[in-house]
Amino acid sequence: MVKKHIPHEGAGKDIVKAGILNSSLKEDLYKKAIKEIDEKLKDLDKGIIIPRMATINAVLKNIMPHYFWCGFYFAEEKEMIIGPYQGTCACPSIAYTGVCGTSAKSKESIIVPDVHSFPGHIACDERSNSEIVVPLLDKQGRVIAVFDVDSKEKNAFDDIDRKYLEQLIPVLLEGEN
Ligand code: SME
Repeated sequence: MVKKHIPHEGAGKDIVKAGILNSSLKEDLYKKAIKEIDEKLKDLDKGIIIPRMATINAVLKNIMPHYFWCGFYFAEEKEMIIGPYQGTCACPSIAYTGVCGTSAKSKESIIVPDVHSFPGHIACDERSNSEIVVPLLDKQGRVIAVFDVDSKEKNAFDDIDRKYLEQLIPVLLEGEN
């Protein structure tokens, strides 16, 4: 009898499900991701942000098991417009009423343990349950974009995520005015 093949879904999923993504593992994975990002970006000309955004997304999404979606929204005058991202199909534009807009307006990172309790939250994919958003400010202190990460799990993000994501902002903005 031929046994039915059950595809391997990746260790990351089990780690999150079992709640084993403890602080030290999360720290180790961020350190690994940042090393890979630095390596990949070292020869890239400064001042070109799209390839930096794309690379940071791809590396983080592939290394961090609690990420369901990650990507950038550019802060335009009336709404926020999608930039490079990894994950399921995102809203191409969003109002300033959601978590991304709130972070852009306050110029501060926001951790949302349960998106369903955040007034104004915009659900591009119903499977997201928690979220972190970090703003990108230029040298004049203007918000040019935000980095948004979603998880299927509630309470997936904490100060460790905030610390490493905020650390990546200068890497993204290298060479920008
Ligand atoms: N949840 C965000 C919208 C973007 S999606 O999560 C990809 C918000 O409330 O602004």
